[in-house]
Amino acid sequence: MFRITIINGPNLNLLGTREPEIYGKKRLDDINNDIEKSFPNVHFDFFQSNCEGKLIDIIQEAQHSADGIIINPGAYSHYSIAIRDALKAVSIPAIEVHLSNIASREEFRQTSITTAVCAGVISGFGHFGYQLAVKATLHQISAKKD
Ligand code: DQA
Repeated sequence: MFRITIINGPNLNLLGTREPEIYGKKRLDDINNDIEKSFPNVHFDFFQSNCEGKLIDIIQEAQHSADGIIINPGAYSHYSIAIRDALKAVSIPAIEVHLSNIASREEFRQTSITTAVCAGVISGFGHFGYQLAVKATLHQISAKKD
């Protein structure tokens, strides 16, 4: 069974009530439950933190407990060199997710410094982006094992 660690960064604990016109009406728990239902043959570990250091600890630990990482670093995507370094340091593939299409938003959101160290990014498909990211992660893990 493949194991995927799903990590959500700052303010994503507020999904459902936080700017629903941008981020949707689903709560993070709903999104995580949907993922488990859609992929019953995958083992998921879900984490959310508002703290940069905690997110780094989770990324580092994931390489011992998971085959791949899905991460929405939230605002840290735009400026956290430390999270970028952590993603680069681990040997398992990471896929970045954004609910919104960051390319079409304010200028300060249009650059993600973490994307370059991920296998790829899915941005703009709301909660469905996490489902796409699971598919992409499974593809990356299988490609790596071939
Ligand atoms: C986000 C986009 C970021 O710019 C923002 O700070 C977030 C959420 C997204 O999922 O669209 O917190 O990562």
